[in-house]
Amino acid sequence: TAIDKAGHRHFMAKEIAEQPRVLEDVLSHYIKDGRIVLPEALDFREVDRITLVGCGTASLAGQVARYWFEQIAGLPCETDIASEFRYREPPLSDKSWAIFVSQSGETADTLAALHYAAPRVARTIGVVNVGTSAIAREADVALPTLAGIEVCVASSKAFTCQLAVLAILALKAAHDRGRLDDAALGRHLDDLRAMPALMSQALALSDDCAALAGWLSEASDVIYLGRGALFPVALEGALKLKELSYIHAEGYASGELKHGPIALIDRNVPIVVLAPRDALFDKTVSNMQEVMARHGQVLLISDAEGIASAGSGTHASLAMPSEGGVFQAMLYAVPMQYLAYHTAVAKGTDVDQPRNLAKSVTVE
Ligand code: G6P
Repeated sequence: TAIDKAGHRHFMAKEIAEQPRVLEDVLSHYIKDGRIVLPEALDFREVDRITLVGCGTASLAGQVARYWFEQIAGLPCETDIASEFRYREPPLSDKSWAIFVSQSGETADTLAALHYAAPRVARTIGVVNVGTSAIAREADVALPTLAGIEVCVASSKAFTCQLAVLAILALKAAHDRGRLDDAALGRHLDDLRAMPALMSQALALSDDCAALAGWLSEASDVIYLGRGALFPVALEGALKLKELSYIHAEGYASGELKHGPIALIDRNVPIVVLAPRDALFDKTVSNMQEVMARHGQVLLISDAEGIASAGSGTHASLAMPSEGGVFQAMLYAVPMQYLAYHTAVAKGTDVDQPRNLAKSVTVE
């Protein structure tokens, strides 16, 4: 069937809005009757390390998942971008697994990284959206992300579906390795199963993001801050803004701010602060206050309670759902997408086909 914009102005808007449905698809593919359903080969008991590799947005999905593999499964985990990984000749354990994340499954650097790892690790896994792609064929195990065709060059629904598959892998690892009993696993799976509905709530922030687009589109630099799994989401927010609106943006770990980037802050620099009310909330809020003391204009993204407790003095705030447990990072992708999308629309850039970018990069 022909792919159209289904009434949306751009493919990107359509693809962002599809996330509740495609997440439902991918979650119900891998979770059946409250149990994780994965190929038999994926038993994590003997694995000593996970390596996650990808390019662009897919590499950031790997970076988010690292926090889950380490914190939930207690499994050492490293991440890299494919173009570095393949040439730095990393020593790899023959008991380790390497996971290659790619929407297209054809990205040349990611495929070359798979070729490097294959003879050196116990198993290669492709987390891919295109089931017939090279990475899907060549990995020992291919796990489809089931996001459907993504037309917009900048990735949105493919990213959150990658996160869903990686979250399920981290939970499987934690359960196999005795870090989660059945009851605890069940609670995490409930959090994941709630994600499509929570994602629908997050989509309702589109108008609020549109209202901030005029402000962001005037900026020449924007900084995104987050801690923990929200740090790579901050990187993704900055990447999205750069790709779509051509505004210079940087993501930083909130705690790193004082070691350099704080020098950039003045009243002309919008700072987007990702602060779910997790164990790191107070730390992130204190980093935010350091920014505000230097007249930075803060957009605080938290839940209603977080905004009520920390929001005074901010330029604006976006109220996110408070549910989602350890997987909240998935939800925070939505305001990242909408802020970039609406800012690009406000600037009049080519949202679906940004200059100089290709959907799939099959050269080095
Ligand atoms: C290109 C696209 C990005 C994408 C990256 C990785 O640079 O413009 O949006 O994240 O490739 O693509 P992949 O298909 O491997 O996920």
